Amino acid sequence: MTTLDPWGAVKIDNYSKLFDEFGISRFDELLKHIENPHRYMRRHVIFGHRSYESVLWAMIFKRPFAAMSGFMPTGRVHLGHKMVMEEIIWHQSQGGDAFLAIADMEAHAVRGKTWKECREFGINEYILSAIALGLEPGAHIYFQSESDPVKDLSFELGIKANFSELSAIYGFSGQTNVAHMVSALTQSADILHPQLKKFGGPKPVVIPVGSDQDPHIRLTRGLAYKMNMFIVEPRGVQPGTFPIDTEGKTFVSVRGKSAPKDALKEIAKRTGGKLYEEHVDILISKQTLEQVESIVREVELKYGGYAFMPPASTYHKFMTGLQGGKMSSSIPESYIALTDKPEEGAKKVMRAITGGRVTLEEQKKLGGEPDKCSVYELLLYHLIEDDNQLLEVYKDCVGGTRVCGNCKKFTAELMREFLKDHQEKREKARERLGEFGLKDV
Ligand code: TRP
Ligand code: SF4
Repeated sequence: MTTLDPWGAVKIDNYSKLFDEFGISRFDELLKHIENPHRYMRRHVIFGHRSYESVLWAMIFKRPFAAMSGFMPTGRVHLGHKMVMEEIIWHQSQGGDAFLAIADMEAHAVRGKTWKECREFGINEYILSAIALGLEPGAHIYFQSESDPVKDLSFELGIKANFSELSAIYGFSGQTNVAHMVSALTQSADILHPQLKKFGGPKPVVIPVGSDQDPHIRLTRGLAYKMNMFIVEPRGVQPGTFPIDTEGKTFVSVRGKSAPKDALKEIAKRTGGKLYEEHVDILISKQTLEQVESIVREVELKYGGYAFMPPASTYHKFMTGLQGGKMSSSIPESYIALTDKPEEGAKKVMRAITGGRVTLEEQKKLGGEPDKCSVYELLLYHLIEDDNQLLEVYKDCVGGTRVCGNCKKFTAELMREFLKDHQEKREKARERLGEFGLKDV
């Protein structure tokens, strides 16, 4: 028998394209540096990232960092949203600043929701659950339409984004309404605004997303780069070569095409670099790249630039639908909403597709297939926190001693308890909206 892999249900074979073609890095390599990794990290549900090192460093050295995500207030809050919320909450518990956007502008422009519906769905579905799951006061929970910093920044970002780029990502055509396009930039503004001066300035910010959201992240990383006054880059004497100068010494170039001359001068002075018309070359013998970057950031801020760091991201896998196939909000039987009656949630578990064999006899002989079992996924993603306990379930299943009927009852019971408890917490959260600067609807 091959080695037991209780995380097998979240195999990443289908995701390897993301690593090879799109340059997403493997999360595994960072795992050992994280002191108390979240369940999704330990179980490889979070499998990839972009520049998460920046967040990890900040976490380890107790520097400022943030986690942010947004939710379109169009439907019911479900287990998929719970995953993102838990990731934000975890980062908050590690000392990060938490940002949670209700994407009402997007829901209004793209899905035709009225402002009233947005408000109601926003509070009653998403926000109450986020607080019930453990988001603490101090978190910035906001509606896009009510955030001037986000709206102002989105306008500025519009200067650096053009139609071709946006349509390549979002499939915009000549028929697309303009507010839809604006809401794409509003999402980028959501992601970058934690780095505005008003919110403490440039810092690593992680956006936990499903892997299909990577194009938005790439767009926003590109915009962050274009918004900045300076670009710090290791450069060779020949374009594209290793960064050494004519004497074989390693250096970086700080380029600032439209930067004030004085700012460039100050960078040259503080780094001991050599000043040219539109750039400064700095030998990397007396300082680290980080030191240069930090000086550049300071100078840029002083001269009114943004000095954005490219936003980091983590990518998690999706749960399969309870009936097989995709989990989709248009198929109520495929998902469990956090506001489903506990009884209803338990029923959905009982009706879910398992990795069981056709007959009990076969199951005893061959064992079940937890890797293909949506019930097992519920345990792995949501209902069992203790890794050893989960491993036991896994072993018993593949060993043929666990039968699906009982296993489903067991899982349904856990689901019932979870929903009951969560919904009690949601009611308490309603009382606490004021602590987050929010009003009930
Ligand atoms: N566009 C996202 C969605 O369709 C919602 C969203 C808005 C978002 N702003 C964001 C997601 C910022 C991540 C980060 O659900
Ligand atoms: Fe899934 Fe449980 Fe059946 Fe195994 S025993 S296949 S985990 S329902």
